[in-house]
Amino acid sequence: MDPRTIKLHDCEFSTYIFEEEIIARISMLAEQIDQDYAHKKPLFLAVLNGSFMFASDLLKRVTIPCEISFIRLSSYQNMQSTGKVKEVLGLTEDVHSRHVVVLEDIVDTGHTVHNLLQQLNERGPASIEVATLLMKPECLQHDLNIKYVARSIPNDFVVGYGLDYNGLGRNLRDIYKIV
Ligand code: IMP
Repeated sequence: MDPRTIKLHDCEFSTYIFEEEIIARISMLAEQIDQDYAHKKPLFLAVLNGSFMFASDLLKRVTIPCEISFIRLSSYQNMQSTGKVKEVLGLTEDVHSRHVVVLEDIVDTGHTVHNLLQQLNERGPASIEVATLLMKPECLQHDLNIKYVARSIPNDFVVGYGLDYNGLGRNLRDIYKIV
């Protein structure tokens, strides 16, 4: 496919990962999750806003009985000994004794997932894993075990398929990389 370039705010982006590849990779994750969670009725927790497309396409391909709920992280940041902690908002489900799978758009430094896992673990889930659309291994600053990664990428800023640049780009079907 020919590369396409777009402009969002002041920055140019060009096509990087096409929808076909994204869907193929998500289908593989769904198969793996089907096998790993058969008879476990997992509870997927999709972190808004960035994971909405990933959550939708993944859940359409997961065939085992499961539940999904959507959470947000506060923009208000609470200073604690570990640094800036964003509070989990909108978690109405009881995660105690549940097999939880967190759905993320991208793991960059890992601060977000690290803090989120700490908060969820306090609620006593039976197990907890993370499924992320993208991961930037070069940027990771925490010892995190991310079990399900659709695609690893180098340290480039990307948009599209749920990911934004200052609010724009979430609606794009493909993933674009900053030029
Ligand atoms: P972390 O806490 O550094 O792992 O950052 C995770 C969050 O930063 C993601 O959930 C995104 O909202 C945002 N982020 C990190 N890298 C990118 C990117 O390349 N494009 C868009 N958002 C990003």
